[in-house]
Amino acid sequence: MVKKQAIQWIVNQDTDVLNGIAAGIVFRVLVDILHPVIGFATGSTPVGLYQDLVQNSRANPKLLERWQHVIGFNLDEYVGLPENHPQSYHHYMWENIYQFLPVLPQHIYIPKVTGDLEVNCRTYDDTLANYGRQDLQILGIGKNGHIGFNEPAGNLVLNTHVTPLSEATRRANARFFDTMDEVPMRAITMGMGGILRAKRILLLAFGNEKREALLQAFSGTIGTECPASFLQLHANVTILTDQDMTAIF
Ligand code: PGA
Repeated sequence: MVKKQAIQWIVNQDTDVLNGIAAGIVFRVLVDILHPVIGFATGSTPVGLYQDLVQNSRANPKLLERWQHVIGFNLDEYVGLPENHPQSYHHYMWENIYQFLPVLPQHIYIPKVTGDLEVNCRTYDDTLANYGRQDLQILGIGKNGHIGFNEPAGNLVLNTHVTPLSEATRRANARFFDTMDEVPMRAITMGMGGILRAKRILLLAFGNEKREALLQAFSGTIGTECPASFLQLHANVTILTDQDMTAIF
């Protein structure tokens, strides 16, 4: 375990070990906080963590019971896919985690992508603000340094907003769709403010293709071309990775 600025790095070549450590951090929040507000990420990276959370919760009635009290907020959702589409993040969350746990559907928030999207964005931020802020935010990182769908740009956006997806992100996510044309062009994403207001951030970055993004994001400079670099300003970030990061320690 290495400390650089306020960032805690946990480096291990075995992603099962990293998922176990991450699950332990989530369980601590679940046990310590009466009504824990947890920010969830999607994508391929957190699938192992979610499996670990499900397995260990189902093996421990006291942990399982705690999920009734969880308030879940998702980082983002594609615009243009119905909730029941196999690639919607709504579907992903129920498929990978929520269906196995006694969460209360009325405590689960995923950006709504039908109706007036601007109103949906404001409602999302207001709802989160009513709960305070995330006790824990789980994050992945894009190869291009995005967090949520806050894509590299000249300016980043503070609040939840509708965003075009970059070509890089559409290409990266094309593996989940039959054709590139089916990859949505837009999404609703929590903004940089919503992410950075979380009390604690857990960033998972697995695989060699994430190494460059990590190096750029945590090398000590901050810029909108690498949204994850703003995490360096946060007081409580834990990064779990299987990549050798000695270049920046
Ligand atoms: P991935 O996506 O886990 O599918 O690599 C992470 C991200 O884009 O944030």
